[in-house]
Amino acid sequence: MDPGSGRRGFLKAAAAIGLGAAALLTAPLAGLRVWLAPLGGRSGVAPGRWVRVTSLATLPENGPPRRFPVVTDQVNAWTRSPAVPVGAVFLSRSEDRIQAFNVVCPHAGCLVDYTPGSQQFLCPCHNSTFALDGQVNDPGSPSPRGLDPLEAEVRDGSDVWVRFQNFRVGLKERIPES
Ligand code: FES
Repeated sequence: MDPGSGRRGFLKAAAAIGLGAAALLTAPLAGLRVWLAPLGGRSGVAPGRWVRVTSLATLPENGPPRRFPVVTDQVNAWTRSPAVPVGAVFLSRSEDRIQAFNVVCPHAGCLVDYTPGSQQFLCPCHNSTFALDGQVNDPGSPSPRGLDPLEAEVRDGSDVWVRFQNFRVGLKERIPES
């Protein structure tokens, strides 16, 4: 008998047992992850959740961008917490169109500012600047992409709703946080 055949047989059996165990554990571990993290992301807001942010009256037509907190009920498998701040957005209005950006800088996650009259957003951490349409203003900017736009709409003729979503920072691609 080949002296190596016993060892090869043992290794094959060990590999088969390992693969079998991995297959058996995959489904329970996935279920455990869902059970332990029912909030749907770091912010506690399910990806792309519509939230009423303000009234249309707070946004003058063709006015400068204004920053608003995003506040919503936070629900998980065990509790319901009303009116929890989960982020913030810049809103502006031109005619009937509402423009919305997440205030989080796509470079490293600081919060972007807007100074009225400056005609640009500025991140105070590493000086990335963004035009009013959200595009990166300065080619030397460390931000790998423009501000993250969000869907926004007017409901019932008076309420501004935003589909609030956070995105991963430090990437050129815009990838929603899960
Ligand atoms: S975090 Fe905004 S420029 Fe670095």
